Amino acid sequence: MNVKTEAERQQLQAIGRIVADVLQRMGASLQPGMTTAELDQLGQQWLSEAGARSAPKLAYNFPGATCISVNEAVAHGIPGALKLQPGDLVNIDVSAEKNGFFADTGASFCVTPVSPARQRLCQAGQEILAAAIQVARAGLPLNGIGKVIQAEARARGYSVIRNLGSHGVGRALHEDPEFIAPYDNRKDRRKLRAGTVITIEPFISTGAESVYEAKDGWTLCTAKRFDTVQYEHSLIITETEPLILTQLSPPGILSPPGSSATSTD
Ligand code: CO
Ligand code: CO
Repeated sequence: MNVKTEAERQQLQAIGRIVADVLQRMGASLQPGMTTAELDQLGQQWLSEAGARSAPKLAYNFPGATCISVNEAVAHGIPGALKLQPGDLVNIDVSAEKNGFFADTGASFCVTPVSPARQRLCQAGQEILAAAIQVARAGLPLNGIGKVIQAEARARGYSVIRNLGSHGVGRALHEDPEFIAPYDNRKDRRKLRAGTVITIEPFISTGAESVYEAKDGWTLCTAKRFDTVQYEHSLIITETEPLILTQLSPPGILSPPGSSATSTD
């Protein structure tokens, strides 16, 4: 969507805060032995308490409130009986609707203890997202986002998942502009405009360049030997720095259970 009024901006900020808060609380709740269904139930409860509805459920009839993807599953993982293990790489993607406005956020977390390699990858994923946000500004080419993602990933020795893109959001979970590539796509001549609401959500990997759909018809996976992370914000394009709707703090890596619980009331 293209934001035209202050009221629209406030509604987007409200749903942005809700999904960011739910994501942060879910990340802080990760514990070995917990099932992904139990984690999703927490997300469902917190979304409901905030008056929001799960966007993937609403838009696609997804069988869960949030997408929880573990290890080689990197996106659209269905919450279920899978029990989290120490060291697992867990992506949680929270998107929701309130009053007709949508926001979308995601982050990868490690269940402690975290291997140094996975810690480095999580850190890189967050830095690459931050770098891409810096070139998201009115008048600049949309493709500048993918160009930066690709260059920053390469500079750190990582690959990008090429068939997962960022997207417009706001009045629907996925809307115009569709598929913002995470690489330098010279055919894409679109320009960013002030007021446009998009996600930026690069998937950064130790070597995978694409995902395939698992037999369940939802989960997107890479080959087992790779690790992949995703960090996602929804933001409004402006003439200067974008307005980030889903700021997540503290980002990424999970501290030992109990030490990072955050009150957000
Ligand atoms: Co998302
Ligand atoms: Co998204």
